Amino acid sequence: MIAFVTGGTGALGTPTVARLRASGHTVRALATSPDSARRLRAAGAEPVQTSMFDRPGLVAAGRGADAILHLATRIAPASQARSRGAWRENDRIRIAGTRNLVDAALATGVGVLVYPSFAPVYADGGARWLSVGAPVDPTEVLESTLVAEDEVVRYAAAGGRGVVLRMAGVYGPHSAATRDVLALARRGISAFAGPPDAYQPLVWDEDAAAALVVASMTDEVGGTYDVADDEPLTRARLAQVLTGLTGRRVRRPPTWLVRLALGPRMKFLLRSQRVSNRRFTAATGWAPQVRSAADGLARLARAAAAPVPR
Ligand SMILES: NC(=O)c1ccc[n+]([C@@H]2O[C@H](COP(=O)([O-])OP(=O)(O)OC[C@H]3O[C@@H](n4cnc5c(N)ncnc54)[C@H](OP(=O)(O)O)[C@@H]3O)[C@@H](O)[C@H]2O)c1
Repeated sequence: MIAFVTGGTGALGTPTVARLRASGHTVRALATSPDSARRLRAAGAEPVQTSMFDRPGLVAAGRGADAILHLATRIAPASQARSRGAWRENDRIRIAGTRNLVDAALATGVGVLVYPSFAPVYADGGARWLSVGAPVDPTEVLESTLVAEDEVVRYAAAGGRGVVLRMAGVYGPHSAATRDVLALARRGISAFAGPPDAYQPLVWDEDAAAALVVASMTDEVGGTYDVADDEPLTRARLAQVLTGLTGRRVRRPPTWLVRLALGPRMKFLLRSQRVSNRRFTAATGWAPQVRSAADGLARLARAAAAPVPR
């Protein structure tokens, strides 16, 4: 298969490109700069220097591809996430960029387009399992991912196989944010803020990458699915796990304080979202190798403690 990937240097893109290459596929990947082109080449992909806003460039990149995996994003840095302006580029990629990509996919007859959306669009579900069809409450900053989902629906209505995977929070060895989780825990602070009984949806990055690749290759799969690990944990349980791994008491920051610091646009970070992968698992046979964050965080802590090879 020839896959055209956007966002191939990101936390999700890096393991996805690696997995596609390891399975023998040819990967063309959008490079935003000479540095990202160099990283993509080193990963065995063929970099294509174009832009999400250059429709003819996307048509040229898509020509002859069997699948498009659309992973480009520009999430606002945590220090600026309260500001609406800091999300503008991300909105532009998700709205105008996805529209251009769908137009290019339709113009070139690419058979399948896979888009990882964001499970935290769901409204707070308490202890209930959540999946497609549950109420959503995207807040201003996540509305653009629902617009991108609609673009995938437009592509499917025109005859393509469109797949949206509403992904839980991605963590693992390819994510810089995950290293911060362990560093904070060593200082006694849990990065998983929110009420103690609120579920945190997570998925190991290599499992998320595997889900994207499986979705692109399974002809029967079309529409929207949820991707998370098997056992979402509550914030209280995650703090307990981090306590066990660091050997010091890890506490959740006070929810009222985090709510105040995040502001209304980021309130989705505090919700209870017990996201179920059952529909996706049943459709594809995909199963996470890391079943819960208790296992995943332990793996990361072991890797961090291992001596660096000379
Ligand atoms: N990480 C999560 O927890 C999570 C959870 C659920 C869903 N997702 C979804 O998964 C996708 C990938 O997320 P991620 O965490 O891998 O993001 P990430 O680590 O921030 O990577 C973003 C990627 O997008 C590229 N990019 C940035 N601006 C671009 C532009 N203007 N045009 C084209 N490419 C651009 C970056 O390329 P450069 O390296 O060249 O800057 C990079 O490859 C997104 O759709 C995101 O919403 C992520």
